[in-house]
Amino acid sequence: MSNHHTRAVTYGSYLRLDDLLSLQEPRSEGPEHDELLFIVVHQVYELWFKELLHEFDRVMALLTADDTHRVQHTLKRILTILKVLVAQLDILETMTPLEFLSFRARLEAASGFQSDQFRQIEFVLGHKDPQAPLRFPAGSRAREALERRHAAPTLWDAFLHYLSREGFPVPPAALSRDVTGPIEPSPDVQAILIDVYHRDPKNAEVCERFVDLDEGMQEWRYRHVKMVERTIGARRGTGGSSGAEYLRATIGRSLFPDLWEIRGNL
Ligand code: HEM
Repeated sequence: MSNHHTRAVTYGSYLRLDDLLSLQEPRSEGPEHDELLFIVVHQVYELWFKELLHEFDRVMALLTADDTHRVQHTLKRILTILKVLVAQLDILETMTPLEFLSFRARLEAASGFQSDQFRQIEFVLGHKDPQAPLRFPAGSRAREALERRHAAPTLWDAFLHYLSREGFPVPPAALSRDVTGPIEPSPDVQAILIDVYHRDPKNAEVCERFVDLDEGMQEWRYRHVKMVERTIGARRGTGGSSGAEYLRATIGRSLFPDLWEIRGNL
């Protein structure tokens, strides 16, 4: 029998602590004091990204099962995690520009730009850059996950199908749209959403959680770019982009445009 069966489970064995705590490997000489913080914060982000993707898959399945209560419950959890993700930037902002520069060169061309789980989250939310999967080697975990999510319906698609089963006349064109393309605003869908807000409080609540999600993602982008500005100014990114200038262009891009369009007409 393997150890797995003969040894009692402990805190350390269950969480694989020996493995987990051996995964932070600074690259700088010394190493520089702040590199550990930089690694830990990024690793924690990736763990939360993993959990978020797990919860997004859950929300989509619950929408498909018409289980509105649990949809709301899961969206609340997602939004709570997102708050923590935004708040966590405060910790990295305690690192001064000079402290970052002390090890930045050791990152070479590595950048958060290459986070496949962040791109997966964007894909679930309908922002699908067709180039994103191609940046990872064929057959890799990242490439396969991104290809799968590129072809799959988005959270918004799952919601429109759900609304249609709830009895709202969602136009067939919206239900059969190419799910690999961008979510375009639709006056027909907007008319339905206005109806939802006026006479279906339960589903209007779900819509509000989607707006929270959209706003929360934009909040993360805003806070990230401010952190970038204060830490590296107008320097180029390690990932090769123009840096803060590139990031500023990604702010204010809404995920669910129909939910924003209707607000002036409610
Ligand atoms: C000192 C801290 C940080 C700096 C200076 C920084 C800088 C940058 C820069 C300049 C970019 C643009 C791409 C490039 O050319 O590299 C970028 C992208 C990105 N960073 Fe950071 N970053 C920091 C921390 C973080 C953290 C903690 C995360 C969390 C995972 C993160 C996630 C991302 C993501 C997901 C992108 C891609 C955004 C997009 O393409 O819309 N970054 N970062």
